[in-house]
Amino acid sequence: MDKKFFNYIIHGGDYNPDQWINTPEIWDEDMRLMNLANVNSATVGIFSWSMLEPEEGIYNFEWLDEILDKLHKNGKDVILATPSGARPAWLAQKYHEVLRVNENGIRNEYGVRHNHCLTSPVYREKVRNINTLLAERYKNHPAVKMWHISNEYCGECHCEMCQQAFRDWLRAHYKDLDELNRKWWNGFWSHQITDWSQINSPKDRGENHVVAMKLAWRRFVSDSHISFYKNEIAPLREITPDIPVTTNFMRMYGGIDYQDFAKHVDLISWDNYPAWDRGNTVGQAVETAFVHDTFRSMKDGQPFFMMESTPSIVNWHDVNKIPKPFRQEQSSIQAVAHGADSVQYFQWRKSRGGHEKFHGAVVDHCGHENTRVFREVSHLGDVLKKLDGVVGKGYNGKVAIIYDWQNEWAVNVFCGYNNNKRDYLGECLKWYKPLWEQGIAVDVIPMDGDFSKYNLVIAPFLYMLKDGTIDRIENYVKAGGNFVATYLTGIVDKDDLCYLGGFPASKLKDVFGIWCEETDSLPEGITNAVAFNGKDYEVIDICDILHANGAETLGEYQHDFYAGTPAVTVNEYGKGKAYYVAFANAGDFAEDFLGEITKALKLNASGIRTPDDVYARQRGEYTFVFNFADENKTISPDREYTNVLSGEKLTGDVVIPTCGYLVLK
Ligand code: GLA
Ligand code: ZN
Repeated sequence: MDKKFFNYIIHGGDYNPDQWINTPEIWDEDMRLMNLANVNSATVGIFSWSMLEPEEGIYNFEWLDEILDKLHKNGKDVILATPSGARPAWLAQKYHEVLRVNENGIRNEYGVRHNHCLTSPVYREKVRNINTLLAERYKNHPAVKMWHISNEYCGECHCEMCQQAFRDWLRAHYKDLDELNRKWWNGFWSHQITDWSQINSPKDRGENHVVAMKLAWRRFVSDSHISFYKNEIAPLREITPDIPVTTNFMRMYGGIDYQDFAKHVDLISWDNYPAWDRGNTVGQAVETAFVHDTFRSMKDGQPFFMMESTPSIVNWHDVNKIPKPFRQEQSSIQAVAHGADSVQYFQWRKSRGGHEKFHGAVVDHCGHENTRVFREVSHLGDVLKKLDGVVGKGYNGKVAIIYDWQNEWAVNVFCGYNNNKRDYLGECLKWYKPLWEQGIAVDVIPMDGDFSKYNLVIAPFLYMLKDGTIDRIENYVKAGGNFVATYLTGIVDKDDLCYLGGFPASKLKDVFGIWCEETDSLPEGITNAVAFNGKDYEVIDICDILHANGAETLGEYQHDFYAGTPAVTVNEYGKGKAYYVAFANAGDFAEDFLGEITKALKLNASGIRTPDDVYARQRGEYTFVFNFADENKTISPDREYTNVLSGEKLTGDVVIPTCGYLVLK
């Protein structure tokens, strides 16, 4: 769980000196400014391929030698990137196959970035070649401490090579066409496949209704990214076995199964761009906390890097509002509280031209340090130096929420029930928020994670079950675990085939002591209600209609023909308890329901009671407390604490200003 890559929190970000190659005085100015900004690291070379290999086989590493030496001389650690995220024009012109083909079969022209075929042997070879040269040249460079592989892997390619690779993938995953036809339920609409060559990637003008095939395609694309990545890192592993490897993930991006990809990186890193101060700051704080927890959980609680964030604005929102002063500092410390060992920015210096010239940066077009943003970055750098104590400290929560990438795919492709309300992440966040408010650390795990570490596992909308999940839920509850499931649980297997014999799947009916006979969907404006513990809760969107077969009914529907039937149940099974919440969570139901469970399980974390929109998080010996409200808030610590940043002792009530936070010991 603990894992240390540096002895201090990394503070830095994307640095593109290659854009300023003709003004070497700017490079020197960068060094001066980096020192002033309390920055200790730079991520270099992310999009540098055309500068490193201006023509095929003609290389120019001198500029990179020089900048790495400069950075080293100034005491900066370098995170060195591989440049596959964007390619030189000559490469695309000479080897057409490296360019991506869209779902209509049209090959993209050269342009933008992240525009490569995932299968192309030529592209893989070219990437391997440039990566090999980088590794050979810099394997002993004292500044180079980590590899940043490519950039934000994403997208998919539908070229003929990718189609063939998809068919090969299917052959490896299904015994034969009979099995594939059976599992894809191809008797429906006469879709029997008689030869592998009849299968093409899913697309709107072709096959897009065979759900199992769409799931297979998602799995194939995800595997293709991982195999592309493995090809990229092969030379690095060989030449620089001691330099750790990461690639920057994008929040909950659905195109790659990050929970699977995580197994192949030494540490997780991700790019964090919340939309602060646009009317939903608390919602952003909750969601961002959830994402941090998701990434921390991917490697068993191990610290991760926040590889990118903006020191001010982005340029890709519709309207790029400036967050309040010191919001970025609060946001960065939030990352640290959740397990980040770095605060990094996109970008160090604003580019003069190009698509991102109005994206925030530490150094603005004015070129000097006398800006609000620069001062705040420098201040944060000072703060981070005082937090070395958390570096390397990982942690796990005692509660887990299952958010499974492949379930997200499955949930979003089926047709039925409430087609307008299919918000898997939103549902998970509704269960996460009350725990966040109570300061309870939560892990976010896939359905094949290890449940036994947790006192409580919450599985919102666990519609699709991967192989083995039924047994794992049963064993967990039998051994004394507490498991909460919600509506539409255990409906299909991993190929989207419905379980026969009633829902939830197979023996989950015994574990939960229920049978779900029907599922009702509520159009906008039509509600039901559930009476639970003497209070009525409004119910919207979706309602499973249950029979309690052994479970105790804790709450009942109040309206419609199923009034009086169970809506919240608990079943004692073995040494544990299995709860079922049959409806989409709304209002404060989750808060009240989980409040009782966490109290009974004594899960409440820190002794600091926090008011609304303020929350506490423990990491190592520090307790972090954040105020995301628009006004100042007061907390009442249960004992005397030391304010780690100021050194003063705190007794009695403490005011935390809006956008503020405390680090206590
Ligand atoms: C992503 C990319 C960066 C940059 C930023 C802008 O995270 O990785 O190269 O484009 O977005 O916010
Ligand atoms: Zn392709």
